[in-house]
Amino acid sequence: MSKIKNVEYGLEKIFEGAQDFLPLLGTDYVEFYVGNAKQAAHFYKTAFGFQSYAYKGLETGSKDSVSYVLTQNKIKLILTTPLNSTSEINKHIVKHGDGVKVIALWVEDAKKAWEETTSRGAKSYFEPRVEKDADGEVVRAGIYTYGETVHIFVERKNYKGTFLPGFVKWDSEYNPEPVGLKYIDHMVGNVGWGEMNTWVKWYEDVMGFENFLSFDDTQIHTEYSALMSKVMSNGNGRIKFPINEPAKAAKKSQIEEYLDFYEGSGVQHIAVATNDILDTVAKMRARGVEFLSTPPDEYYKSVPNRLAEHNHELAEDIEKLKSLGIMIDADEEGYLLQIFTKPVEDRPTLFFEIIQRMGARGFGAGNFKALFESIEREQELRGTL
Ligand code: FE2
Repeated sequence: MSKIKNVEYGLEKIFEGAQDFLPLLGTDYVEFYVGNAKQAAHFYKTAFGFQSYAYKGLETGSKDSVSYVLTQNKIKLILTTPLNSTSEINKHIVKHGDGVKVIALWVEDAKKAWEETTSRGAKSYFEPRVEKDADGEVVRAGIYTYGETVHIFVERKNYKGTFLPGFVKWDSEYNPEPVGLKYIDHMVGNVGWGEMNTWVKWYEDVMGFENFLSFDDTQIHTEYSALMSKVMSNGNGRIKFPINEPAKAAKKSQIEEYLDFYEGSGVQHIAVATNDILDTVAKMRARGVEFLSTPPDEYYKSVPNRLAEHNHELAEDIEKLKSLGIMIDADEEGYLLQIFTKPVEDRPTLFFEIIQRMGARGFGAGNFKALFESIEREQELRGTL
């Protein structure tokens, strides 16, 4: 039996097929457009343990919108709310509800990233622009991906200030403890019927990513619903974007429910890594985060065998994992521990995953059935199954 250590990937190239024309250093930030950023910031601080980091709003000369930036280890979230009815941001919120607008990617050269991607067919969101203040300069540029979601390239090597020009440090008297969230492991997009392969090809051609895992509806289905998924990765494996589309089945797929309520394609979930999922999830539960229901007893009874098949031994106490509803999956390289929140807004759209990798590089395929049955119980209550 092999004991497996928690792994975070380095910058080495691990996916051989991926192209090098768009070197990515990591996720820079994720920006949400929300109806009330002040209240959303309180939620992410209290429930998810994020720390106050930066702010812009009326007091700093931002007349059209307010943004709160939160951080926890390598993760940065921006919560943005418009200050008038005519803002473009408002249209986004009216249509989609609260959701992810921007997946920002940290690069060495934002102008080159924009040129390489737009010359390969990306639609520009905005051209490279230099943003300056007393602490230096940042170059940013943006392209559209699925739906109204965008990627913004951020080059910050000549900047020493707090977050980005235009922001000030946000000092708050309310600072709940972090819960151990470390970095973004992957972010999943839901796209419309028959569109998965279009976006797989887009990430290959435009971004130089490689498709390194695929799941079809014969693998991802329950008695009632089905979906298909392909995982796209950049060359160093730091950026992983699984893309889902619904598949035909007896009842409505959770992906279809998302597309109906988000009114289009968008980010389905953000997976954040922890080194101690037992501690992280216990803290999040105590602070009011709602998770999907715990799988049945039979699920936990099968876990030792599922790990033994791959010659792995569980380092954690299975009773503790069960008491918190954490799921376990194994592959040749190791195992992973994961759990999913319920949607974090009123529309059944965006949710979070908490993941601890113990060697495994997969996404919990062995848990899909138990997970989807849990989601179907929620869909049943919502009348959307
Ligand atoms: Fe995931």
